Amino acid sequence: MISHDYDYRTLLETSQRVNWKLEDVIDGKTLDFTRPFLPEALAGVEGIRCLNDAEKLKLNQIRGFTYLYLFGLVEEYILPSVLDHVRDEASGDGHEVRALLNFAGEEAKHIQLFRWFVREFERGFGTPCGVIGPAGDVAAAILDHSRLGVFLTTLHIEWMTQKHYLESVKDNAAENLDPLFCSLLRHHWLEESQHAKLDTLVVDKIAGALGAAVIEKGIDDYMDIGKFLDGGLMAQVRMDIASLEAAIGRTFTEEEKGEIERKQVEAYRWTFLLSGMRHLNFDRSLRELSATGHERVGELASAIA
Ligand SMILES: [Fe+2]
Ligand SMILES: [Fe+2]
Repeated sequence: MISHDYDYRTLLETSQRVNWKLEDVIDGKTLDFTRPFLPEALAGVEGIRCLNDAEKLKLNQIRGFTYLYLFGLVEEYILPSVLDHVRDEASGDGHEVRALLNFAGEEAKHIQLFRWFVREFERGFGTPCGVIGPAGDVAAAILDHSRLGVFLTTLHIEWMTQKHYLESVKDNAAENLDPLFCSLLRHHWLEESQHAKLDTLVVDKIAGALGAAVIEKGIDDYMDIGKFLDGGLMAQVRMDIASLEAAIGRTFTEEEKGEIERKQVEAYRWTFLLSGMRHLNFDRSLRELSATGHERVGELASAIA
């Protein structure tokens, strides 16, 4: 149904080869608050005219914080969804079961990694930064959709992670980004490379057992989850503006707030929604699942672009 050249055995072998220990990545490490965290392609702070360079750096760091916080947040729904799926497949192929259990174990480790980062950031940044959540409520709201809708969302997120790292972080010496933040993204990307492919196999299997009407419903569910997440991102933008005001000790005028909000809505939507919806591999899988569903997602992407 979905074209690919992935198999569970090879993906399991690769994941065992690249696997890393949490302690090796974080022990004895700290963030350097004199440097930006997130590449400008994702942070989108440079074009904001009402901020000076020091204020842009603060906003970049807030965006780096919410970037990893939000990854941790979505991984809290991915983990139980993978465990539910593997429970149903437990009597099947041994490589499939082991590769999926490994996938779940890696996401559990990533959640720990991102929680450590959140504590580390809060310790060093100096002023509190509000975040959407709590994670359990967001996870429950996402999981309240069909399994196909949920795994299409995960497929979107996994390919999006690949794009962010390969196009914006890897080989990016020009922006002088914080080395620890880059290391967290690199280690995450290393394991996510297998997740994106495993998810393609999972979506293919789930959709292969469904009729055309149920597949359409799954794609609609994916879009509903996307709209739900978009609402969360819009709330996060407003919280970031309040966090920035606290961090730099000034209150923005309505006009300044409006400018920051417009630029940041655009940056958040690109980072978390459009770079997944329009990822070439995600786009192809969606088109192969349903031409009309693919068209609906394309219209949604154009509406928020
Ligand atoms: Fe992850
Ligand atoms: Fe993942």
